[in-house]
Amino acid sequence: MEFEYNKDITSLTTFGIPVKTAVFAEYTSEKELLKISRSPEWLDNDVLHIGGGSNLLFVNDFKGLVLHSGIKGIVRYDKDPDTVYVIAGAAENWARFVDWCVAEGLAGLENLADIPGEVGAAPVQNVGAYGVEAGDLIHSVECFDTFTRKTVTLRHDECRFAYRDSMFKHEGKDRYYVLRVSFKLRPSLEARNISYGPLRRLTEQLGRNPSISEVLAEIKKIRGAKLPDPAVIGSAGSFFKNPVIGEFHFRELDNLLCAEGLEIPHYPQPDGSIKLAAGWMIEKAGLKGYCIGGAQVYPDQCLVLVNKGGASTADVVALSRYVCDRVQARFGIRLEKEVNFIDSSFTFRMLGSGTSKGVPEVGCMCPVCTSSDIHDKRRRCSALLHVKGMNILIDPSPDFRQQALDAGIRSLDAVLITHSHFDHIGGLEDLRPIIGEHQVPIYVREDVAEDLRRRLYYLFREDAPLYPGAAPLDLHVIDDTPFSINGLTVEPINVLHGKKPIFGYRIGDFAYITDAKKIEEEERDKLRDLKLLIVNALRLTDHFAHFTLDEALELIRDVKPERAVLTHFNHEIGLHSEIPNLLPPNVIPGYDGLEITL
Ligand code: EPU
Repeated sequence: MEFEYNKDITSLTTFGIPVKTAVFAEYTSEKELLKISRSPEWLDNDVLHIGGGSNLLFVNDFKGLVLHSGIKGIVRYDKDPDTVYVIAGAAENWARFVDWCVAEGLAGLENLADIPGEVGAAPVQNVGAYGVEAGDLIHSVECFDTFTRKTVTLRHDECRFAYRDSMFKHEGKDRYYVLRVSFKLRPSLEARNISYGPLRRLTEQLGRNPSISEVLAEIKKIRGAKLPDPAVIGSAGSFFKNPVIGEFHFRELDNLLCAEGLEIPHYPQPDGSIKLAAGWMIEKAGLKGYCIGGAQVYPDQCLVLVNKGGASTADVVALSRYVCDRVQARFGIRLEKEVNFIDSSFTFRMLGSGTSKGVPEVGCMCPVCTSSDIHDKRRRCSALLHVKGMNILIDPSPDFRQQALDAGIRSLDAVLITHSHFDHIGGLEDLRPIIGEHQVPIYVREDVAEDLRRRLYYLFREDAPLYPGAAPLDLHVIDDTPFSINGLTVEPINVLHGKKPIFGYRIGDFAYITDAKKIEEEERDKLRDLKLLIVNALRLTDHFAHFTLDEALELIRDVKPERAVLTHFNHEIGLHSEIPNLLPPNVIPGYDGLEITL
């Protein structure tokens, strides 16, 4: 194993869009992986483990270490006449592995023929097709635990498989690297999963149940007709997930579509929800074959976006947004990406830089409140982070609706709340169009959760069904230990807002502190070595619950970030254009709409 620097990894993805990584390594054993995990290349970098690259899109060149498994080998272990365990190395090609199982007379995986990618990715995204999901057949997964640097075996139930989902996409993300997967198969030539339409037709044609090799051949034929061959046309398979909606919502939509003479393909789920066919919706939104630059909605299966030649990432990103927007406009449902966007950029956007009353204050005629400078128009304090391809909102302020419209926010992946004062949570209900049917986790302290459950009782009540239009809030209670949002580590910082304990947040080299009056020494230690610190500075004169400008500057002098931006101003701070005269060179006054990319 050797590290390769500034390496072109285009051939390790199936989209065929040129991309490089700062460092690359391929390992062929746990021992090599252990060695890598102790190297500076690992310790000093963001690490991304890829498989066959068939379900990801690099939005920009990767700035860290890309790892790829070279662990191969397939071992068969016959347990009893009805059970065979097959253990396959993560680097085995999935399609060849399925062919091998069928050739060995092992039933179970034949419906998953010809899916691009490697065995190691199967448990992560729980690959599925034609009525079968890999998770149904996975007995256990042998992984390298990057937290403990030990090899662990996770049982089927510990993997928590769901539709295109597993624990490896959530708390297991960036923690477990798949080394080998153990499948529990049946020694049998008879195919059992033949409920999918075309397979039922095959059964009728044959006049008997098809064998596993007949199913394998049929699936290859169906896929070949509908899906692009990644060796010829770049793509990452289904670009979006099939949306799952509530029954009430489905009936409303179905009635509207019936009136137009349309019947939407839908699949009732065991929990009463309904899965819809996104490919059909994209087609009916008029997008079959639609192109932006070199990116195209694949005409034979609209759920797939392809690189029809020379597409840039920007083309694919623009097309995927356009598809989401058009489907939302047509059907009122926002599609979620199934493809994993790898985005190394970090952008901070100040959505609001004002204190609880905002600037201008209603009724005030002071020079700041009557200033015509747009930088003196301060909405309530809030921020948006774009990190690891996710949109994370800090504090839904009462101005959230206008802030979101101005910033063009179309989706959120998580919300962090600092405390439950109205100016920091008043916009929670305006998250409704964005949350919709999706579960957007909202991270809160215990006291904030209690407060919200009381104030917004109709969203949490258990004594009666929720009003059908209500979007329940997915509260995740946190304490001050670091936690992970899809592999992104967030560290809460204890801050005193007057006497009230609240949270600030640190993410990598960035930290956001608002409403602080005091930060204890050990919490200040969590704020050292920052590239960017956002901190509140209410005004020049003392306030019982907020830093003055001098107190904010004292914190900055103490923790020494490369840069700092001030926020949460009231009108007494003075005109925006005059604040810089009071600041050292590495500190600027924030304003609504300020954007900084790290
Ligand atoms: N449909 C259209 N137009 C389209 C695409 C689909 O009208 O352009 C209709 C079809 O006629 C059918 C329904 O939508 O009535 C569903 O289509 P299909 O059976 O092709 O399956 P899908 O739901 O679009 C899913 C998987 C595919 C998998 C197929 C077959 C997801 C996100 N995708 O697609 O997986 O091959 O089922 O089981 O669940 C992949 O993940 O990369 C992938 C290709």
